[in-house]
Amino acid sequence: SKIPAYMASTDKAPAQARNLPWVEKYRPQTLDDLISHKDILSTIQRFISEDKLPHLLFYGPPGTGKTSTILACARQLYKEKEFNSMVLELNASDDRGIGVVRGPILSFASTRTIFKKGFKLVILDEADAMTQDAQNALRRVIEKFTENTRFCMICNYLSKIIPALQSRCTRFRFGPLSPDQMIPRLEYVIQQESIDITPDGMKAIVTLSSGDMRRSLNILQSTSMAYGKVTEETVYTCTGHPLRSDIANILDWSLNKEFTAAYNQILQLKTLKGLALHDILTEIHLLIHRGIRCLEHLFFGLINGMSPLRHRLASGTNEKIQLSSMVAAFQGVRDLVVSEAS
Ligand SMILES: Nc1ncnc2c1ncn2[C@@H]1O[C@H](COP(=O)(O)OP(=O)(O)OP(=O)(O)O)[C@@H](O)[C@H]1O
Ligand SMILES: [Mg+2]
Repeated sequence: SKIPAYMASTDKAPAQARNLPWVEKYRPQTLDDLISHKDILSTIQRFISEDKLPHLLFYGPPGTGKTSTILACARQLYKEKEFNSMVLELNASDDRGIGVVRGPILSFASTRTIFKKGFKLVILDEADAMTQDAQNALRRVIEKFTENTRFCMICNYLSKIIPALQSRCTRFRFGPLSPDQMIPRLEYVIQQESIDITPDGMKAIVTLSSGDMRRSLNILQSTSMAYGKVTEETVYTCTGHPLRSDIANILDWSLNKEFTAAYNQILQLKTLKGLALHDILTEIHLLIHRGIRCLEHLFFGLINGMSPLRHRLASGTNEKIQLSSMVAAFQGVRDLVVSEAS
């Protein structure tokens, strides 16, 4: 399952690269290729150049460059032919129990290096999946082999790592990427792949990926493969996200049709396009916040009506029942506004 990172480099394997998912094809190869987290990168660069690399703990949401950063560090530290003997990379697909600590990790750390200078690197990706026992066993291993081995733990949730391990590491938080950081990288890929994209298509990708670079690249690739041109409409359709026109229709039906017709039409659209009620409600919320002036009155009531609905939906109630209460809530507000207006 572990492809050495340098194999993903485009110049080494052009034929293979064409079939690679773009998240791998455009995985940053060096620390300089990484966008964002400049302070983290410069700190790590300094550690490396002063030969004082501590144990590391990277944490933060998905797709923000944690795995890419440590792989780029490793490539900077080791030559290609020493990579396999000096770097042990474990991720969630490997066993995460105490056995892996006593077995592979211990034997890797305790084997003498043939290269006299420098230390070995153990990368524990997705370390939040490690059991408590394994984490406890790791404390001792880290201490015992600090002289010739550095550990880098990577996780999404810091709270899943026991305090004793946290205190042995220098922590770095990888926050979500801002649109300003994502857009230039996306534009680079767009140019490399000669993609036809509209400005609103770009905006849609950035909005839907909320700071997750992996997600943005995946949306870009799947949309352009499925539809050719990347527009707001194709992005939303490709991700199964309701389009603005779908939301407009849903509102229109809810407000202007009688209950059964509104319910059935929404259900049909939902099924046809594979939309989730949760996304519909989120979009309606956004629409409300974008503030369509003339409907301000009406929407204010809807927010109040929908919050308990979203809450109940999140706790896993039947979507059909929830849909019927959504339509009822809409029509209740409509009647209120109509009666007030007349
Ligand atoms: N800071 C970044 N700069 C450039 N590309 C990035 C960055 N972060 C993520 N990417 C892109 O997203 C892909 C996934 O990144 P990476 O595997 O480093 O994320 P991660 O933080 O380890 O996520 P997870 O927590 O899900 O493991 C990379 O291959 C790269 O294409
Ligand atoms: Mg990762």
